[in-house]
Amino acid sequence: MRDANPQTIYLKDYTVPEYLIENVELNFILDEQETRVVSKLSLKKNPQCKIANPALVLQGEELDLVSIAIDGTALDKTQYQQNKETLSIAHVPQEQAFILAIENTISPKANTALEGLYLSSTMLCTQCEAQGFRKITYFLDRPDVMTRFKTTLIADKDKYPVLLSNGNKVAEGELKNNRHWVSWEDPFKKPCYLFALVAGQLECIEDSFTTMSNREICLQIFVEKHDVDKCSHAMQSLKNSMRWDEETYDREYDLDLYMIVAVSHFNMGAMENKGLNVFNTKFVLARPDTATDSDYEHIEGVIGHEYFHNWTGNRITCRDWFQLSLKEGFTVFRDQEFTADQTSKAVKRIEDVKLLRTRQFAEDAGPLSHPIRPESYIEINNFYTLTVYEKGAEVVRMIRTLVGENGFRKGSDLYFQRHDGQAVTCDDFVSAMEDANDFDLRQFRHWYSQSGTPTLEVTQSYNQDKQTCKITLKQSSKSTTEEPLHIPIKVGLLNSDGSSAAVYTANEETADEIIIELKEKEQSFIFEQLEEKPVVSLLRGFSAPVILKMEQSLEELAFLLSHDTDTFNRWEAGQKMSCQVILGLIEDCQKKRTLQMNPLLLEAYKNVLQQPWDDLSYFSLLLSLPEENYLAGQMDVIDVDAIHTAREFVKQALAEQLQSQFQALYQQFHKDESGQFDAGAIGRRRIKNICLSYLMQLETEQNYQLAKAQFNTAKNMTDQMAALSCIVNSNNPAKPSCLESFYQQWKNEALVIDKWFTLQACSSAKDTFDTVQTLLQHSAFELSNPNRVRSLTGAFSQSNQLHFHAANGQGYQFLADQIIALNSLNPQVASRMVSALTQWKRFDNARQALMKTQLERLINTADISKDVFEVASKSLA
Ligand code: BES
Ligand code: ZN
Repeated sequence: MRDANPQTIYLKDYTVPEYLIENVELNFILDEQETRVVSKLSLKKNPQCKIANPALVLQGEELDLVSIAIDGTALDKTQYQQNKETLSIAHVPQEQAFILAIENTISPKANTALEGLYLSSTMLCTQCEAQGFRKITYFLDRPDVMTRFKTTLIADKDKYPVLLSNGNKVAEGELKNNRHWVSWEDPFKKPCYLFALVAGQLECIEDSFTTMSNREICLQIFVEKHDVDKCSHAMQSLKNSMRWDEETYDREYDLDLYMIVAVSHFNMGAMENKGLNVFNTKFVLARPDTATDSDYEHIEGVIGHEYFHNWTGNRITCRDWFQLSLKEGFTVFRDQEFTADQTSKAVKRIEDVKLLRTRQFAEDAGPLSHPIRPESYIEINNFYTLTVYEKGAEVVRMIRTLVGENGFRKGSDLYFQRHDGQAVTCDDFVSAMEDANDFDLRQFRHWYSQSGTPTLEVTQSYNQDKQTCKITLKQSSKSTTEEPLHIPIKVGLLNSDGSSAAVYTANEETADEIIIELKEKEQSFIFEQLEEKPVVSLLRGFSAPVILKMEQSLEELAFLLSHDTDTFNRWEAGQKMSCQVILGLIEDCQKKRTLQMNPLLLEAYKNVLQQPWDDLSYFSLLLSLPEENYLAGQMDVIDVDAIHTAREFVKQALAEQLQSQFQALYQQFHKDESGQFDAGAIGRRRIKNICLSYLMQLETEQNYQLAKAQFNTAKNMTDQMAALSCIVNSNNPAKPSCLESFYQQWKNEALVIDKWFTLQACSSAKDTFDTVQTLLQHSAFELSNPNRVRSLTGAFSQSNQLHFHAANGQGYQFLADQIIALNSLNPQVASRMVSALTQWKRFDNARQALMKTQLERLINTADISKDVFEVASKSLA
C-alpha cells in the first residue's frame, strides 16, 4: 500500500547514527510458515553523535513483535512505540553499552517480494541488500552500522539438512523432535545488508584454493540435487577470480570458507553476502548442452563481481546508499577487467560500450536521469541502475586513464589501507587516488554529481605551412549551468598510407597515441610535424562516456576500418559507416523512396571478409550491424518500423552480395563440437552463427535446411539456440515443430525454458504479440518467478522494439497489465519492468499519448508500491 506522499530521502540530510551495534547474536527457529527470530544486540551510544539522549529508532517492517527487553528487563508497551516502519525506544542507557533483546516472528512463505527471508522452491534463503534485513528483525538497517554477527539456525533435519550463514561454522548439534542446530560466527564487522542465511536440501560441490600467503580456502557451491552436474564452470570461475584479485590488486581472501548458493527465485543476478554469496541459478549453472557461450562468460563475470566485492564492498563498504557507485561502479570496473583478461580485451570493451551506449545513454537522456551519486530517492532499489553501475565503472576507468595503470594501483592500495573496515564515500575513493598520485581530481569530481551524457563537438584543421593539425573540442551537457568536466581523450593519428604518425605536441614526441585532457568548455590541441593531413582517431578505447560529434565521410571511416590500430575505434568506424547508411535508408523509408544498398558499405564488408583474423569473436563483431535499439538512440523521433525495414534491407543486401563468402566461412568453422569453453571454439561458433544468420535472411530452402540441420544435430546450446533463433525469426515452415521439440527436450531445465520464452518474445515475426499473449497462459509461465517474468514480459518490452511499440498501443497495455499484476507480488521486479515506458518522449505523438496513458494508469492503481510509483511518476514529470 502506498502512502499518499511517499517520503523522499536526501543525501544532504545525512547524519551519523545515534547508536552503534557492536555485536549481535541471532537465533532462528526456521519454518516456512512462521520463523521465530531472537536477537540480542549489544548497543552503545555513538561517540560521534552529539545529540543528548537521542531516542533509539530501529527499522522493522512486516514483523510480529513478541517481546523486547533491555539488559534483561522486559519493556512494557508504554516504553516503546511502534509504527509500520520503526520501533522507537525513548530512553536507553547513555553511559554504558547495553543489551537489547528482541523476539519476533516472520512468514517466509508469504514473502513473494523476495526480500528478507523467503522461500525459493523448498529452500529458505535471504536477500538483505539494500534494506531487507529490517524484514527479518528490528535493527539499525544502514550500511554505516557495522556489527559482528553470530548466528544460530534451528530447523527440522529432513526439511533443512543444510543450514548456512556468514563466516565460519563454530558448533552444531541435535535437538529433540527431529531438529538440529548450527552456529556460525563471522569475525569481520559488517553492515546488516551483508547478512545471509540459507536452509534446505542442498547438494554441495567442493574444491579448494591456496592463497598467495599459502592459506587453504575451502570453496563450496550449493545447489539442488539435479543441478550438481552444472557447477564446474562456476567453481573454476571462482578460482580464477581469486587468483586474479591477488595478481592484479594484491588482495587475498580473508575467511577460511567461501560458499555460493544457487537459488531459482531471485530478484537480481547475485549477492555478495560475506562468505555466503547467494546467486540466481542463471549465474551459476552451466553445462555445454544447457548454457550458451555467452552464459558461460556471464557466469564467470558475475562470480568475479561478487567475489571482488569482498574487498570493494564488504571490507570497505558504503557510508550510505547514495554512495552505491563506490562499491558497484568500482566492482563492475574490476569484473570488466577480469573478463577482459580471461577472454578478449577488444571484444569485452566493445560489448561493455555497446551496453553503455544503448541502455545507459538512454537512461541518462530520459526523465530518470541521475548522477552516478544520486542526490535523492524514494525507493533505493530503484537506484541499482545502469548509471550507477555502468557509468560508475566508466568514471573509475577514466581515473585509471588519467593517473595511469601504476598510479591506479597505488591509489587502490592507499584506499584499501586507509579505509579497511570502514563505511566510506565516493569522495574518499577519489581522495585516495589523488593523494597516492599527487594528481588533482577536483574538477573530475563533477562526474559524481552531474547527470546526463556530455556531447563533444570536434572540428579539425590542418595547416600545410606549419605542418600542424589543430583539433578543437567543445563540450556541452543538457543544462548550460553545469561546470565543464575533466575528460580524458585518447588520440592517435594516421598517415595516408595507413601507418601511425608519431604524435608531437609542444615539439615533443610522445608516442603513437596520447591522452589529452579536456578541461575547458572549449579547448584546442595542436599536433605538430605532420607532413600531410592526418586521419584522426579520437576517443580510442572509448576513453570517456561521451557522445562524439565529428564529421567523417564514409571514405574516411572505411580507411579507419582498414587501418586503425586501436581495436575499439576500428570496430567503431565500421559501426559508424553502417549507422550512416542505415539512417539514410530510414529517411528513404519514411519518404517512401526505393531503397538502395550503398556500395561503399558493401565494399567495406568485403574487405573485412577477405582479411585473416586471429580473434574470431572480434571478427564477428566487425560483421555485425548496429542493433535496432542503438539506431533508435541516434534518431530525434524513433520510428521503429523504418528502423527495422532499413536494417533488414541492409542485412538482406549483404547476404545476397556476399552469400558465397558467408557460406564458405560457415563451412570452414562449422565443427561438430560438444561445446568447449575456450576462446578458439567460442570464436568459431560465433563467426559461424553470424554467417548462418545472414544466410537465413535469404529465406531459401537450402538455408532453411542448413539451420534445421544445425538445430537437430547441435551438441551445445550455443549452436542449438543460434539455429533456433534464426528459424524463429524466419518463415521457415519447421518453426512450430522445432519450438515444440526444443520444449520437450528441455522442459525440466528451467533456465533453458527461459531461453525458449525469450526467443519467441524477441521474434520479429508478425504474430509475435499473439504468441506472447498465448505464452502468458502456458503452464510453464509463472508470475512468481522473476527469471520467467524477465524471459517473457521483460524480453518483449525491452528487446523487441518493433512489436512492443506497435502503433495500436497493445504492447503498452499488455506491459501495464503485467506490471499491475506483479506489483502486489514483487514490487522490485514490477518497477524494473516500467523502464520500457519511460522513454515515451522519444516517440511520435500518437505513441507518446498511448504510453503516457499507461504510466498514468500505473500511478492511479490502488495499492501501487512506492517502487513502481517512483519510476512511473518520475517518468511522467
Ligand atoms: N549487490 C548487488 C546485488 C543486489 C543489488 C542485491 C540490489 C539487491 C539489491 C550485486 O553485487 C550486483 O551488483 N549484482 C548484479 C550483477 C553484477 C555482475 C553487475 C546483479 O544482480 O544484477
Ligand atoms: Zn555488485
